[in-house]
Amino acid sequence: MARCCEPDDYQSVFSGRFARRQSRRYQRRGLSPAARGIVEFATSRGIAGATVLEIGGGVGQLHLELLRRGALHVINLEISQNYEVEAARLLEQAGMTDRVTRRFLDVAQAPDEVEPADVVVLHRVVCCYPDYARLLSVAAGHARKMLVYSHPAANVVNRAQFGAENTYRWLTRNDFRAFIHPADGMVRAAESDGLAVAYRRHSWDWDVVALAR
Ligand SMILES: C[S@@+](CC[C@H](N)C(=O)[O-])C[C@H]1O[C@@H](n2cnc3c(N)ncnc32)[C@H](O)[C@@H]1O
Repeated sequence: MARCCEPDDYQSVFSGRFARRQSRRYQRRGLSPAARGIVEFATSRGIAGATVLEIGGGVGQLHLELLRRGALHVINLEISQNYEVEAARLLEQAGMTDRVTRRFLDVAQAPDEVEPADVVVLHRVVCCYPDYARLLSVAAGHARKMLVYSHPAANVVNRAQFGAENTYRWLTRNDFRAFIHPADGMVRAAESDGLAVAYRRHSWDWDVVALAR
């Protein structure tokens, strides 16, 4: 049976090539619509001077935009170590290197190793983690004011794409798996620490769910 997902599996899928593609896309086209939805919700609730915890932030495009809109400081947690060159370059170009701390940590496994923040965000991350309930309840426990996450919409196109990608990984002996977790189960986990859903954005690709205290 496949062991999903060890740190090495994340390194192989979220590679330097993946990181370069993400940063190139951001520099050419800006944030994706779902990422924009996350930024717009957070900004509408007020992020001036806020601390941000981004879980699985990749090259950091989303938290760069939160900083541009007034957030004070970001802690980014990652499992993959392959984003650092691109993340450092984007931060340097934006003149924001000293406003982001990048750490390698699976917060679901070590929740006490990171401080809570005003805003917690996870964009395209829950689908890359098998135990969504644990990840989202730990994320909620770290959110002083709001928690915003995106997840793949549970439709035929996404199911076919995730199924094909997982089959390819199985055939190539890669143990990483991506998941379309149940939307209601994710909300229940995210609400576990007293947060309540304040905004939902449904789309054909990524849904956004925002919760606030
Ligand atoms: C599809 S990538 C998305 C990266 C970035 N958020 C973006 O949208 O470009 C998913 C990322 O989540 C990270 N990840 C998954 N589970 C995580 C966890 N428990 N803690 C930290 N990072 C995690 C993976 O390493 C991977 O880089």
